[in-house]
Amino acid sequence: MRLTIETELPLHIVPEGNPFLLGPYAPVEREVTADDLPVIGEIPKDLYGIYLRNGPNPVFQPRGRYHWFDGDGMVHAVAFRDGRATYRNRWIRTSGFVAEQQAGRALWPGLMERPDPSAPPGSGADGWLKDTANTDLVFHNGYALALWYQCGTPYKLDARTLETLGPETFRGQLRRTVSAHAKVDPRTGELLFFDYATKPPFMTYTVVSPHGELVHHTAIDLPGPRLPHDMAVTEHYSILMDLPLFWDPQLLARRIHKVTYYPDLPSRFAVLPRYGSGEQVRWFEASPCFIYHVVNAWEEGDEIILDACRVVEPAPTGAAGADALARMKAFLRLEAQLYRWRFDLRTGKTTEEQLDDTKTEWPTMNRLYLGHKSRYAYTAFVPQFDGLMKYDLVRGTSEAYRFRPGCIGSEAPFAPRVGGCGEDDGYVVSFVIDAHTNASEVIILDAKHFAAGPLARVQLPQRVPVGFHALWVPGEQLWG
Ligand SMILES: [Fe+2]
Repeated sequence: MRLTIETELPLHIVPEGNPFLLGPYAPVEREVTADDLPVIGEIPKDLYGIYLRNGPNPVFQPRGRYHWFDGDGMVHAVAFRDGRATYRNRWIRTSGFVAEQQAGRALWPGLMERPDPSAPPGSGADGWLKDTANTDLVFHNGYALALWYQCGTPYKLDARTLETLGPETFRGQLRRTVSAHAKVDPRTGELLFFDYATKPPFMTYTVVSPHGELVHHTAIDLPGPRLPHDMAVTEHYSILMDLPLFWDPQLLARRIHKVTYYPDLPSRFAVLPRYGSGEQVRWFEASPCFIYHVVNAWEEGDEIILDACRVVEPAPTGAAGADALARMKAFLRLEAQLYRWRFDLRTGKTTEEQLDDTKTEWPTMNRLYLGHKSRYAYTAFVPQFDGLMKYDLVRGTSEAYRFRPGCIGSEAPFAPRVGGCGEDDGYVVSFVIDAHTNASEVIILDAKHFAAGPLARVQLPQRVPVGFHALWVPGEQLWG
């Protein structure tokens, strides 16, 4: 292995018992590049591409308490080519990151604090936080775009070097912001996204061409500010969400951000044609719930099928009166089950069914099938993140791979095998950190023999903290 330390930044962090600043969550202070990583097992020669994962890695303690969502975005990536692997990690140099480096201190309050009138102008749905771009990654128009959970400016990265190339405004045409989870249509190359805000319009929806031109933008009418996290697309339609978990409107008027569950309100799904206006939305009602992440959606006759992880109990119960850390943990339970909704475009009716009772989240799938009928989904066990699951949604079966005791995984995207055919002909790739030793590795599972365990365990030269969303970029799109 050849290791190069690229940058070392002193961290200004005082963990004070905050579990999201300690152990497997603690930030790292070095950016490194490491070639020819040692491997237990053998990296398949037909695994070709880059696994990228975003997540929080704070340099400065925010003003006030630290929430796991506050940390500056850092991408950890492993490139696989010719049976060899290269690791690198880089901070995302957002304008907020650069401003704090120049100031030598934190400038913005954290999510658990009130907006600070003395802070510089902020970002997000209510415009008061630092945009860290720390949440998800999509690959569009030749670049990785780093996205932020509370709606921000996408940051363009070179997926090979992880260099931050600057904010992506789609030739200056970006009208608002982009939420955590945008979709890239694998067949057309279009980028589709929504955002939300505390001021009208409370939601907007946008389509960007494969070459980065903004080609469609419309407002979506909502009864008030909402907090949707993901969306879905089919060949002809986009599906947006109005779910009954949102900031208490009375408190929000005083700029107090208290996420509240309203179980007497239905879940509502907006179905609109890909280039449709807000007036063309058809709303479908369903039982109340919250959804963090969608597996996939597609059209079947007159119906649209939506598979997603449905949160069992969205209210952070048991946390009332608890201290701030307990409330934060309660909110991060992400305890969801795989669920299917069918929206009948002919009758306007919704039917819904739970597909499994296992608590799993962080769904991934073969993205070549995004928007079209898919059979397989890959998820992680929650809340411990201590293993991965493969679902066969046609046969209604599942297979599990549990990590060694004390190990924590990451979101695990599907990597199609070079020359492969069929939806599950490929690999599932995940960072795994041993919480006791901090040893970190990337595991490679054969998607067709999922429960058999890793084909290879690629050993990493430094700890990869527990993080957020991941992306697989096929090598053909990077190196030809
Ligand atoms: Fe997410």
